[in-house]
Amino acid sequence: MLKKLSFDNPLYVLAPLAGFTDLPFRSVVKKFGADLTVSEMLSSNALAHGSEKTLHMLEKSPNEDPYSVQIAASEVDMAKRAVEVLNEHDGIDILDLNCGCPVPKVVGHGSGSSLLLNLPLMGDIIKTIKETSNKSMTSVKIRLGFEEKNHIDIAKMVEDSGADFLAVHGRTRAGKFKSAVDYDAIAEIKNAVNIPVIANGDIDSYEKAQWVLEHTGADGIMIGRGAVGAPWIFHQLKTGEAHIDFALKHEIIMEHLDKMVSFYGAHGIPMFRKHAHTYSKGYRGASKLRDEVNHISDIKDFRRVIDDFFRNGEFA
Ligand SMILES: Cc1cc2nc3c(=O)[nH]c(=O)nc-3n(C[C@H](O)[C@H](O)[C@H](O)COP(=O)(O)O)c2cc1C
Repeated sequence: MLKKLSFDNPLYVLAPLAGFTDLPFRSVVKKFGADLTVSEMLSSNALAHGSEKTLHMLEKSPNEDPYSVQIAASEVDMAKRAVEVLNEHDGIDILDLNCGCPVPKVVGHGSGSSLLLNLPLMGDIIKTIKETSNKSMTSVKIRLGFEEKNHIDIAKMVEDSGADFLAVHGRTRAGKFKSAVDYDAIAEIKNAVNIPVIANGDIDSYEKAQWVLEHTGADGIMIGRGAVGAPWIFHQLKTGEAHIDFALKHEIIMEHLDKMVSFYGAHGIPMFRKHAHTYSKGYRGASKLRDEVNHISDIKDFRRVIDDFFRNGEFA
């Protein structure tokens, strides 16, 4: 049974982060109360051509309910073909269009944030997704503009094209990931459209989450980098409880590692290194651990080193 999201209470959403928010990571984040999880961005082209790697990235964990899949597209026809492929897959509730990715390779292909330069095309792609999809909802993730802000025009086009809700990263493409997040602009979007709006950008604490919800009037918040190395952040953001036991962290880190190995096989080990780096931030002996894991590829040895480190973990 496909799920429609309820916006009666603020929604806490895990942002899509290419290279991070894969099935193993999303499944542990979900345990801490994320209301919605989104796949990594998938290329329409790769979906339409049945790329095995991309179809593997589409898989969801059983606890991801509801589940959103994000696609990148630069043409109506390719978007339609990608959605037809996704229609064959059960268990996806929402299709999301990426209109924010600033990466030159993606922009060069005419997808991601470059759609913000051609709003009629962006609108046609949204309409096509909505008309073709057999999922419950269609959503769009935007930035405030490409070079300059034109956030109201963008948001209105998203709404007029039939999207059910939108997520706004409060920076322009030019602002990349560092410029100050413009929460006033997110509030302006919320006032300008009638569909639910999710606020995104630099939200990493309970206080900040409360402030953003109040200041923007948004229907939810989306957290990306704040969850990397801290999948438990959703519990903290929702309850205001700052403390998480070392023992619980240890358990979750091991579960994450084990899921990486079952999802990716031996390749899960090199892929987990970046997570070992972020999990160990602030721990005593973190730099020695980072150095050590960079040189281990045997699954058992890697697991033992991580297990010992976090079992006995303490802050520096
Ligand atoms: C490493 C990385 C990968 C990202 N991948 C995606 C992606 O696949 N799709 C997307 O819409 N946004 C992507 N983003 C943007 C995030 O979803 C989010 O909008 C941005 O990081 C701001 O939120 P934050 O401050 O909570 O991280 C990515 C960001 C980072 C840092």
